[in-house]
Amino acid sequence: MTGIVGLGSYVPEVVVTNADLEKTLDTSDEWIRTRTGILERRFAREDQATSDLAVIAAERALQDANLSPADIDLIIVGTNSPDMLYPATACLVQDRIGATNAAAFDLQAGCPGWLYAVTVGAQFIESGMYRHVLVIGAEVITRMMDQTDRGTYVLFGDGAGAVVLGDVPRGGFLASELSADGSLAQHLTFPAGGSRMPFSEKVLRERTYFTKMDGPDVFKFSVREISRISTKVLEKAQLPLDQVNWFIPHQANLRIIQAGAQKLGLPMERVVVTIDKYGNSSSASIPVALDQVYRDGSLKNGDKVLMVSFGAGMTSAAIIMEWWK
Ligand code: ACO
Repeated sequence: MTGIVGLGSYVPEVVVTNADLEKTLDTSDEWIRTRTGILERRFAREDQATSDLAVIAAERALQDANLSPADIDLIIVGTNSPDMLYPATACLVQDRIGATNAAAFDLQAGCPGWLYAVTVGAQFIESGMYRHVLVIGAEVITRMMDQTDRGTYVLFGDGAGAVVLGDVPRGGFLASELSADGSLAQHLTFPAGGSRMPFSEKVLRERTYFTKMDGPDVFKFSVREISRISTKVLEKAQLPLDQVNWFIPHQANLRIIQAGAQKLGLPMERVVVTIDKYGNSSSASIPVALDQVYRDGSLKNGDKVLMVSFGAGMTSAAIIMEWWK
């Protein structure tokens, strides 16, 4: 069976509280707390880019897997905030950790990027092409946000989580489901800097080199997708909902998590929540949350873990796995 043989994460040390944001934005701790559940988030230092966070998480995952960098056959980085448009951040990570035998590419699929990348990486192992795939979700997503836009800037934080995929003796990935609806793409975009809208004075003036989000539309999509795609993946795995020990949703908004869990019929005791401490770290949010329940000893062999994400594209993804390590 294919599963996770090593796990690690890293969040930057700089803590930004809601009170800090009140100093520069027309917002309040009360609004952010009650509308999103976020109390604080982490910001990367000025000298840190996405690959720097990814490297730390990757090294921790390799150590946990008891493997050396040379054992890695492929690196996939799920990210929406790569160091540069090219080369791929995965290539920078490959060089920095010394994974000289590994192929490397980035996968961009909105916030579900890490779940997409895990699903893709697992296929290489199941096909017999590779033995060990390093899958990282890493973001310095706060740099993609407009510091003058209270509707987005308060929501996000930086971080990275990494797993090494390989053969596990029991359990592992039971089912995976990926989905996209490009007709909703306009709800969440980063308009400038690509081939459609190259950088220009107009871009600078109109601030289109920052994330544009239609919050309420993304909210509705997210709640709907949590229950739809979770139900689908559970059916695929032939697993009843009451056997799910841990539900790890993408950490975008506590109200989305609560509404999604309620629609699905999952009690909040089984839901992993980190948004209060880290905000929305996009592709990194699920591996960081998974690492938290692993490191604090809550995750036990045999536990069934349902991970669900949604985001720009609009995309969604879900994986159900049985934890054995
Ligand atoms: N502080 C104070 N007031 C604010 C703030 C703020 N930070 N942000 C918005 N408001 C105001 C709005 O201007 C609006 O005021 P108005 O009524 O005078 O116009 C009011 O609050 C309500 O705004 P809404 O957008 O309707 O608020 P809502 O309850 O929908 O919450 C939010 C907004 C938090 C953005 C919510 O819609 C949300 O979480 N949406 C999903 C976002 C998300 O998950 N994004 C990530 C997707 S993943 C990815 O791929 C990156």
